[in-house]
Amino acid sequence: MTSINEQLTQQFKDALVKSFGEDFQEIDPQVTTARDLRHGDYQANIALPLAKKLAKNPREIAQIIISNLSVDTICETPTIGGPGFINLKLKPIYLENKLKSLYKDQRLGIEKNRNHEQVIVDFSSPNIAKEMHVGHLRSTIIGDCLARTLEFLGYEVLRLNHVGDWGTQFGMLITYLKEVYPDALTQADALEIGDLVNFYKQAKKRFDEDQNFQEAAREAVVKLQSGEQESSQAWQLLCEQSRREFQKIYDRLDIKLTERGESFYNPYLDDIITALDSEGILEKDQGAQCVFLEGFTNKSGNPLPLIVQKSDGGYNYATTDLAALRYRIKEDQAKRIIYVTDAGQSNHFTQVFQVAKKANFLPDTVEVIHVPFGLVKGEDGKKLKTRSGETIKLKDLLNEAINYARKDLENRLQSEERIESEEFINNVAQTVGISAVKYADLSQNRISDYIFSYDKMLALQGNTAPYMLYAYARIQSISREGNIDYENLGDNIEIILQEDTEIELGKYLLQLSETIKEVEKTLLPNRLCDYLYELSKKFNRFYENCPVLKSEEPTKTSRLLLCDLTAKTLKLGLSLLGISVLERM
Ligand code: ARG
Repeated sequence: MTSINEQLTQQFKDALVKSFGEDFQEIDPQVTTARDLRHGDYQANIALPLAKKLAKNPREIAQIIISNLSVDTICETPTIGGPGFINLKLKPIYLENKLKSLYKDQRLGIEKNRNHEQVIVDFSSPNIAKEMHVGHLRSTIIGDCLARTLEFLGYEVLRLNHVGDWGTQFGMLITYLKEVYPDALTQADALEIGDLVNFYKQAKKRFDEDQNFQEAAREAVVKLQSGEQESSQAWQLLCEQSRREFQKIYDRLDIKLTERGESFYNPYLDDIITALDSEGILEKDQGAQCVFLEGFTNKSGNPLPLIVQKSDGGYNYATTDLAALRYRIKEDQAKRIIYVTDAGQSNHFTQVFQVAKKANFLPDTVEVIHVPFGLVKGEDGKKLKTRSGETIKLKDLLNEAINYARKDLENRLQSEERIESEEFINNVAQTVGISAVKYADLSQNRISDYIFSYDKMLALQGNTAPYMLYAYARIQSISREGNIDYENLGDNIEIILQEDTEIELGKYLLQLSETIKEVEKTLLPNRLCDYLYELSKKFNRFYENCPVLKSEEPTKTSRLLLCDLTAKTLKLGLSLLGISVLERM
């Protein structure tokens, strides 16, 4: 189904050609939803930028365009506002017909991209032997939402977990464990992740303090990298241990990922150095192999290179990312590669992308995008900590949200004198708690830092998951009461828009596909959250003003259809955010 915006855009393109000739075929008429809804529903802004080119007053240009425009099946007669905006008000009959086809469409008007283009979303990506922290949680939630949205739009999406499973930490860890707990290196299940993280901290301490230990740890890394059996086995066990813990979080959050850690690219690292060298962009600087790029300097103004091989011959994070990029383009055939990490890594990615471009393994046909996000802060505006001042474990954070949700629910049940089964309570608490954490994250513009507050994210009012879930459940209960068999209404459904709030709701329901396209373009999930929130508010206004169950036919069925369409829109929208709805709560 073409969206209203696309339909209007096409009409304007035709009008531009009719008005000013073939040269104007490629010009974007700049159709947007109206900035001021008093003047209409949509507006076209093209008259203003054309003023210079045509040496005419914009209002005059607008007039010419309007005289060649055929939109009478869609809108009332267009008007000219301000300096030359063309205002368009949709006709109720057009809206009614559009809503009817929307209702019959399983995909709610969202077209599928038919090229099945390969997209990679690189997200979550915690580090082995370290705790998965809130930064990884953000990456996981945002990455999953983008992946779901692109999947729904018809792309082939490869969700890659680029876990940090390689590097000097393993040298330290193996050396340390050999000393204090050798069983951990030979027996599965000898370790818990909590222990592993503690062991890692202790090992790091030893490494920083003890010269001999440092030496031993370095040797251990070399051994591991040469593929020596005992170390490889130990490494495998450590990875396995962390993986199991990560998986618990993914299960809770309903996240699917394909693990392809840094170690996967080991066999390709030498080639990267060779390739950079043969392009003549490699320079030795204090023993390290570097690529110098324009515009990158440190605080004192000295050039800041991208180091791809350390002076001891070891490769690093950047080398692996170059190899990964090359592999994803060559082997995975990716056309769009999206990296979801904190904004602190922006420089790293800009450099990696530029080096890849210089080395000729990033063709213009492939789009690489870093999707940055801000920090998660506690309510005091500082780094998120437990009450006793320790870093919060993700598992505890999620459990806490679920506990909050449970308490809320139990209070509600008590005040409503409702009795529900333990199973019902568990399920609602679990869904609300997890959804609240996800939604709180996604509803912020991801670039900004956000304050983590259980009270705010679990509030029943405002732009929160509980509010949205509640709106959905309420609509479902209206439908149940209406006793209507939506599935078997057949073709002769009728949608009649009479009241203002009803027309408002109808129009807004038609904007889902435009919203999803915007998320596709901007990779900003908060656009979808804003839409869903606004939709729920419009629904509430409609429901306050327009009796549904008490009205006569055919109004009653028409209004029930609007209820159902709203519910379906919420359900689909929330599913793209990784949130599942509740029929009752
Ligand atoms: N493991 C990294 C971290 O914890 C994130 C990896 C992101 N992906 C990538 N291809 N560099 O910061």
